[in-house]
Amino acid sequence: MTTKYGLIGCGMMGIEHLRNIALLPEVEVVAIFDPDPDQLAEGMKLSPNASTFNSIGDLLAVQELDAIVIASPNFLHVEQLKEIAARRTLPILCEKPVYTAAGDEVVINRLQRAYQAPIWVAMEYRYMPPIATLIERADEITGGIKMLTMQEHRFPFLSKVGDWNRFNANTGGTLVEKCCHFFDLMRLIMRCEPVRVSASATQFVNHVNERYDGKAPDIWDGGYVMFDFENGARAMLELSMFADGSTWNEEIHAIGPSGKIACRMPGPQRFWPEALGPSPLPELSIYPRSPKRPQTTRIALDAALIDAGDHHGSTYYQHQRFLDMVRGGGEPEVSLEDGKRAVKMGLLAQEAAMTHRVIEF
Ligand SMILES: NC(=O)c1ccc[n+]([C@@H]2O[C@H](COP(=O)([O-])OP(=O)(O)OC[C@H]3O[C@@H](n4cnc5c(N)ncnc54)[C@H](O)[C@@H]3O)[C@@H](O)[C@H]2O)c1
Repeated sequence: MTTKYGLIGCGMMGIEHLRNIALLPEVEVVAIFDPDPDQLAEGMKLSPNASTFNSIGDLLAVQELDAIVIASPNFLHVEQLKEIAARRTLPILCEKPVYTAAGDEVVINRLQRAYQAPIWVAMEYRYMPPIATLIERADEITGGIKMLTMQEHRFPFLSKVGDWNRFNANTGGTLVEKCCHFFDLMRLIMRCEPVRVSASATQFVNHVNERYDGKAPDIWDGGYVMFDFENGARAMLELSMFADGSTWNEEIHAIGPSGKIACRMPGPQRFWPEALGPSPLPELSIYPRSPKRPQTTRIALDAALIDAGDHHGSTYYQHQRFLDMVRGGGEPEVSLEDGKRAVKMGLLAQEAAMTHRVIEF
């Protein structure tokens, strides 16, 4: 039987969801809401049989829905989750970050207690093939991680519908908006919680000359964040969003007493300069301490998955698992609690950088 989805928000990421849902067997997007007519039209090109609505309330009245995907701007997620919870009890895949301001945490806590269907927070990075292997093999290769480093060297924030991503108030700040992915990975890879954070970050070069209704963007484009974890391990993130020329967009290195495991991912294929030929394949490397014989594996992806998005097939793999849950029941692999903890790490990192203080959780 066909599983029927509703989509809220049909911008860049909503379109990526539609492309990937279209690759799943017996799944149909039957309802779309986006207040922007141009974005709605883009969505309808991919799901021509879907109905469109003037409000989330109208979309929620569609009784045949089996699940909802939220891909609206960050600052809308909490209100939209509340609105859905007031009307329906359906599995939800909600884009990260699940909330953007410390005061929203109580609403998320209430939802955790009261909502009777699963809420899965979209953390696509978990499902990028080299990262998924690193998560699986990190303990075995390192003998227990002591140091975990993540580096993102990438292009600036893209333009968004209504330019919402230029301001901390809409995004939660860069360390929430962008970096909650990495903080989620840190908890998952370490299998442990952070206890303190220090950070230094700022708006170095990007967007400084832009103005929106006369207001200058305040979104940061780089910095360093360090966490101490409760088991004594340390983790660090280095972010630069003016490093478009890098071969690798993301690199992760996990090191322990018996060795190191690392992975490297290029940026989205569509941004790779044609003049440089095909972009490199993502890599996974293993460096045992003894004997010193490093191995590097290059990981090829199905062309259909590369075409369907900017995240190395991870949106598709996440949707496969989400669909299994919608059809078969069970718990979300990325829970509301996971989504909440990743935001909290981001918010405290923002605060640490703003106040030049080390912050205890
Ligand atoms: N997981 C990832 O790797 C990843 C990547 C990109 C974006 N995202 C997340 O996806 C979400 C959307 O980001 P985007 O890049 O698609 O932004 P976008 O600006 O391209 O798209 C947002 C869409 O939401 C629509 N919208 C505005 N108000 C709305 C409302 N009240 N209800 C429903 N829709 C509304 C806009 O018209 C627009 O079409 C954000 O939360 C972002 O953080 C996640």
